[in-house]
Amino acid sequence: MTKKKRILSGMRPTGPLHLGNYHGALANWIKMQDQYDCFFFIADWHALTSNYEETGSIKSYSREMMIDWLSVGLSPEKSTLFVQSAIKEHAELFLYLSMITPVPWLERNPTYKDQVLQLNNKDLSTFGFLGYPVLQAADIIMYKANGVPVGIDQVPHVEITREIARRFNHLYGRIFPEPDAILTKTPKILGLDRRKMSKSYDNAIFLSDSPDAVAKKTSRMITDPKRARKNDPGNPAVCNVFEFHKLYSPEAIGSEIDQSCRQALIGCVECKKIMAENLVKALQPFQEKRGYYLDNPKQVDEIIFAGIENARKIARQTLKQVRDAIHI
Ligand code: TRP
Ligand code: SF4
Repeated sequence: MTKKKRILSGMRPTGPLHLGNYHGALANWIKMQDQYDCFFFIADWHALTSNYEETGSIKSYSREMMIDWLSVGLSPEKSTLFVQSAIKEHAELFLYLSMITPVPWLERNPTYKDQVLQLNNKDLSTFGFLGYPVLQAADIIMYKANGVPVGIDQVPHVEITREIARRFNHLYGRIFPEPDAILTKTPKILGLDRRKMSKSYDNAIFLSDSPDAVAKKTSRMITDPKRARKNDPGNPAVCNVFEFHKLYSPEAIGSEIDQSCRQALIGCVECKKIMAENLVKALQPFQEKRGYYLDNPKQVDEIIFAGIENARKIARQTLKQVRDAIHI
């Protein structure tokens, strides 16, 4: 039997999980659990890099995120689930890697340049924010991950990780594999306003939203922008609501809606209602599990503790190798 390949990925705890997080990342992680030796962690130190002025929610968001993860089907039996800040070895490895990472590699990182522009209400001219990918490289190579499932915006970070690993191996001896980014096809669901779904845009449907909230939010969704009146034929191919139907409504209903929309036989209000009902049904099992974990906080504590223990064991081994290689 060949050993399973190891994968690792992380998420910053910036708030409750929404459908964009689920379809963009989590659904994949859940599938990968059977195929790979999986490490998934909550990147709370990374959340500090851009939120250093408002740190009050990070701890509660981290715990909420773990509960959301467990509720959607990440399993502590199959994967190692942990919290970055609990494993201080990440900080030590980050320090060693920072010694060998040329600043221009970080300055030319497209994700960095993009974020500094996008988040222009924050002062991101900090050492920590520039060093974001070095910390991420430490996260990844600590566990000698072979693959890193990420969205397209994170590919430059995995590329920098490969460069840093290569440089480390060259300077001190071969310890680290060079990880590959694993890009997987994800459905293109957008936020209520057709921008990327994001908590900060106030356009997200959260996995924990009540049936009422789901109904209210779907009624706000922008549909085919060319369809002004009910009598105008619509085009489901450009309608975000229809993307949700594809994911949540039975296929037969989807094709019926497709036809009716094109012939102006169904209005958007009714169409959204049908979608919302199916979405609510799909969220229900997840919300039941979520309720269970909220009622059993000790069990959550135990799961987090066990994940941290397992991650720490490996992190300690890696750091021993690293210190020996550097002679420190
Ligand atoms: N930068 C990632 C994001 O914003 C989060 C992250 C931190 C990460 N460390 C990681 C992802 C290591 C993959 C591997 O989404
Ligand atoms: Fe979109 Fe449905 Fe309206 Fe057609 S009827 S435009 S699919 S919301």
